[in-house]
Amino acid sequence: MKIYLRNARVVDPSGKYDGLFDLMIVDGAIQEISSPLGGNPVNYEINLRGKLVVPGLFDMHTHLREPGQEYKEDIASGIAAAANGGFTGIAAMPNTDPVVDSADVVKYVIDRAKQSGLVDVYQIAAVTEGRKGERLSEMKDLSEAGAVAFSDDGSAVSDSHVMRLALQYSSMLGRPIIQHCEDHSLTKSGSANESAETIRYGLKTQHRLAEELILSRDIMMLKAFGGKYHATHISTAESVNLVKRAKEEKLPITCDVTPHHLFLDDNLLGNYDSDYKVNPPLRTKEDREALVEGLKNGIIDAIASDHAPHALHEKEVEFDAAPFGMIGLETTVGAVMTELYHKEVLDIQAIVRLLSLNPRRILGLAVPEFNLGAKADLTIIDPDYEWVVEPEKFKSKSKNTGFKGMRFKGSAVGIIRGEKFFFSDRLK
Ligand code: DOR
Repeated sequence: MKIYLRNARVVDPSGKYDGLFDLMIVDGAIQEISSPLGGNPVNYEINLRGKLVVPGLFDMHTHLREPGQEYKEDIASGIAAAANGGFTGIAAMPNTDPVVDSADVVKYVIDRAKQSGLVDVYQIAAVTEGRKGERLSEMKDLSEAGAVAFSDDGSAVSDSHVMRLALQYSSMLGRPIIQHCEDHSLTKSGSANESAETIRYGLKTQHRLAEELILSRDIMMLKAFGGKYHATHISTAESVNLVKRAKEEKLPITCDVTPHHLFLDDNLLGNYDSDYKVNPPLRTKEDREALVEGLKNGIIDAIASDHAPHALHEKEVEFDAAPFGMIGLETTVGAVMTELYHKEVLDIQAIVRLLSLNPRRILGLAVPEFNLGAKADLTIIDPDYEWVVEPEKFKSKSKNTGFKGMRFKGSAVGIIRGEKFFFSDRLK
């Protein structure tokens, strides 16, 4: 099988092939990078007319919902959504039913994903048995079964002794603890950020300190006990400061932010649309600005979707009763290109670091390379494709997105991962 990509604007982090090239991919490997190649017709020949070809994007925070909640998403539909959104790899969170806290479930997900093979699926296993926060899971067995990281996402690891053990195991195994920073004794059942607006709207709120307290505690623990630590979906200006100071102290900490925390805020909650209900909650404009600043100055290492599918009937209830989460695999690239690339906040190299290289490095995975003979692992982005977010057109089984109706400029239009590929009908 040969795929010939003509006139690709290759974005090569190593700098070797940065510019306009023709790429020949044969049986899943990059055979030639030059301009122009000429030669015989091949199975697939596409003139990209200057579209971007970047290292395959990676989402390090996806909820696939399988096993147990396949009506929201399953591994196959999650993979289809990832490919449609431009991701060649994803890491799945363990808050499924059953929870991914045994080697058997880790192997089940990895095997099921291999049946499709279009996208690399990695599994994150639970830190504690059943995500109950009490007893550490069999982290070594889970790691040997293929788990790339550990998280009780949806909940924090609250118990400090359990967290200490988890950090110690994370050093031993070389696999990070991905913390969902939330002091549950403070958030109770609060569903929106505590601010003058949300109190006026009459919503149950949670205070920002809930995130910052756990993050501060974890940084202190990291200092005392070591470990490999990643804070996911950080959402407040003070969280960015906390990570900044920890990094200045050379602590082994990384963090990510979601597109919804970057680009949406709690001003949107006035219509009580539960698609805006996420955890941590959407914060304020000032927080958003601090998060964007955190991306610019390298304090925030990655952008992760927190793709959290929920069925329509679950979301179509009053705000306080709805589950937390919005889908993100198919909106991340559009949002990032619109808000960061076209507004010249970040260049494409920085975006590639945040959406491809760093998430893989944090999880200890190899990064895709534009080398002759290397396995093809790339995403094609049309930076000028203009579109309106219509969730009904998405491949995900769920449609809960706060970006619905928004106009984006820029879209992923295809992926190639080894011998597998997906080209969207947006590729023109
Ligand atoms: O919004 C969220 N949804 N935040 C989480 O931490 C969990 C996730 C989910 O599983 O739906």
